Amino acid sequence: MRSSDWTHSTETTAAVPQPVHELRRFGDVVDELLDELVELEQHAHEASDHYDTGPWQRENFVRDLPGKRELSLVATVSGTPAGFLIASRRPDGAHLHRVATDPRHRRTGVASGLVAAFLARTPGVVTLVCDPANRPALALYTRAGFRVTGTTPEGKLSLATGTTPHR
Ligand SMILES: CC(C)(COP(=O)(O)OP(=O)(O)OC[C@H]1O[C@@H](n2cnc3c(N)ncnc32)[C@H](O)[C@@H]1OP(=O)(O)O)[C@@H](O)C(=O)NCCC(=O)NCCS
Repeated sequence: MRSSDWTHSTETTAAVPQPVHELRRFGDVVDELLDELVELEQHAHEASDHYDTGPWQRENFVRDLPGKRELSLVATVSGTPAGFLIASRRPDGAHLHRVATDPRHRRTGVASGLVAAFLARTPGVVTLVCDPANRPALALYTRAGFRVTGTTPEGKLSLATGTTPHR
């Protein structure tokens, strides 16, 4: 697949100007944008309750996992990362490890654009784990079609696509 196959724009023809972001394949840009991704992660962590115990560092971004470079995405605005989605391949589909948006770009559709593009390109079941108190993330995932499937031993929620709502 060519990297340009991932290029996606949120620009619309509506009268009200919309923020524009492009989606890039993680493997194509991680070397070039690694410092910016680490910085974005730091800012996202500082601005968010219930994200994670600590922000990812360089080694977390570059750690090799099956399919990570192909499945993961970076949203850029004027060439600078505005958000990212990190995933890896699993036997039945994929696991979504992390989604984050730069606080300056929140509520502009960056994360939902990342998740929608990722799901459209990823066959099978997609799983993730989320803190039950992380309301923005749960709203994002629920709107994208994820459903709660259980609770981890650490008290986090397990979510997956392609499942019926958990009661
Ligand atoms: C969760 C997060 C990724 C959302 O990013 P975003 O780019 O602002 O999300 P979007 O603009 O695509 O919003 C999509 C939908 O998610 C929900 N949502 C996003 N932020 C929300 C908030 N603060 N409160 C309630 N719902 C929210 C809404 O349903 C929203 O749609 P709407 O704006 O049309 O109402 C962002 O808040 C973030 O980076 N948080 C820290 C990292 C994190 O917690 N990641 C998830 C766990 S790995």
